[in-house]
This record gives sequence, structure tokens and C-alpha cells, in this order.
Amino acid sequence: MLKNKTAVITGCNRGIGKAILENFARNGADIFAVVRKNSDEFSALAEKLSAENGVKIVPVYADFSSEEEVKAAAKQILSYKLPIDILVNNVGVGLPLRMAAMTPMNSMKEVFEINFFSSFLLTQLISRNMVKNKKGSIVYISSSAAYDGGANVEYCSSKAAVIGAVKRLAVELGPYNIRVNAVAPGLTETDMGNVMNEEDEKIALSMNIMKRKGQPAEIANAAAFLASDNASFITAQVLRVDGGLR
Ligand SMILES: NC(=O)c1ccc[n+]([C@@H]2O[C@H](COP(=O)([O-])OP(=O)(O)OC[C@H]3O[C@@H](n4cnc5c(N)ncnc54)[C@H](OP(=O)(O)O)[C@@H]3O)[C@@H](O)[C@H]2O)c1
Repeated sequence: MLKNKTAVITGCNRGIGKAILENFARNGADIFAVVRKNSDEFSALAEKLSAENGVKIVPVYADFSSEEEVKAAAKQILSYKLPIDILVNNVGVGLPLRMAAMTPMNSMKEVFEINFFSSFLLTQLISRNMVKNKKGSIVYISSSAAYDGGANVEYCSSKAAVIGAVKRLAVELGPYNIRVNAVAPGLTETDMGNVMNEEDEKIALSMNIMKRKGQPAEIANAAAFLASDNASFITAQVLRVDGGLR
């Protein structure tokens, strides 16, 4: 599905991002794998996926709380002078639930920096390459929390901001044959999705039709579809992958 494509995936050392990395490698994409820091575990994963699938995986390091590190990561990726076909903005951070009225502004700003501004900056820098090549697909990982308020205020509002950016970026980049979409996962089986106590989790799961958490691979399938040419006439959309949350 992604053969001969070059993709950039952020936050792909664990959780949903790791499942996207595995999916894209299996589907034949060469990948710039953007992770916060170097680790033996991630190098081993990248080498294994690369060998098993005959694809190139280039690790790139950036802490998304630093604008400078995001710029340096983009510079490194663009220095290869390859057409970038796909960007998946997956990096995200959640926090424990607390009242919006008690939320310090610096917490709002810190979460927005990681969940919104850094991914937006990376999108600006990478989309210039896509504009030059008149093709591309950008996939953001938003959240069902953007719709239902099911997390802290920093998280809900930063994930809603992502959807606003997707809509506008799609309008501006569409004429250059670049599609921009988002996946909005519901509660998913990852470190981030496993922080609730048993009682809260039971309530959360009672709100989706399928009465269970999503698996990272199920979110990755949606991201791969939107990234691929199978979605060639789909843009400015948010694909909810949440087991029918209501
Ligand atoms: N799990 C859910 O229930 C759920 C539901 C809806 C949406 N989502 C969204 O899905 C995406 C992936 O979440 P997940 O569930 O896979 O979470 P996760 O298991 O906590 O993984 C988060 C990823 O983001 C990276 N990251 C966090 N802060 C970073 C920073 N400052 N700089 C660079 N990388 C950073 C982490 O890197 P490190 O390993 O270095 O920390 C990790 O790779 C996020 O955008 C999240 O908001 C998740």
C-alpha cells in the first residue's frame, strides 16, 4: 500500500506511533522515524523492521517541547533531498484529569507546545518539500477528547486545535495535491490509554458501542489508509476510530 513512499512518523518508539511505524514498514514505506531520544531498544526495533521488510528506517531525534530541536529534525530530514510523501504527526502528551479552573497557564502552554505547536511547525517545514513536489499526505493524530471533553482541558483543547489546523491546511495545500486529514482515536491500549483507575475505565468503556479499548494496530490501519493513495480523494476529514463513542 505504501511502496515507493517516503514517510515521516513522529513519536514512533511506543504506543500508537510504534504501531504506525510497524504498519508503514510492512506496507513498504521508507521512513524517517522521529523519536525523542536514541535508545538501544528503538535502534533494535528499527533494524528489525528494516531487515524484515526491505525498507530504510532513518532515526531522527527531537524533543517536541523545543522549537529548535523540531527545526533541526526537519533540517536533517530535508537534507536528504528526497520527496516526502507522508507526514504522520503522532507525538502527544496527556496529563491526569483536574479541573479546568485549577489548571495553571504554564501547563496549558506546555501541552500545546507538544500537542499542537511543534507538530504544526514540523508540518510547515515538511509541507514546503511536498509543495515543491506537488504531492503529499499529512495525517494528524487528534483524539475523541476533542469532541467529548473526556480528558483534561489542556489535552481536549490542544487536540481540538489540531482539527482546526487540519481544516485550514487542507484548504491551502489541496491545490498542490497535498491531502491533510486526522485520525481521532478513542481510548486505546497504550501507556497513555492505561492511566485510568478501574472504575473510571469502566465508565469510559461503557460509552462506546464496542465496549472495549482500541488496539494501537487498529489506529495504525486508519492512519495508513489516510496516508495512502487509497484515500486519494479524501481531505480535510477526521476519521473517528473509537468503537462508536457516543
Ligand atoms: N492512547 C489513547 O487512548 C489515545 C487516544 C486518543 C488519542 N491519542 C493520541 O495518540 C498519539 C499517541 O499516543 P499514545 O497513546 O501512543 O501515547 P504514548 O504511548 O504515551 O506515546 C506517546 C509518544 O509521544 C512521544 N512524546 C511525548 N512527549 C514528547 C516530547 N516532548 N518530545 C518527543 N516525543 C514525545 C513519546 O515519546 P517518549 O517515549 O520519548 O516519551 C511517545 O513516542 C498522541 O497524540 C495521543 O494524544 C491517544
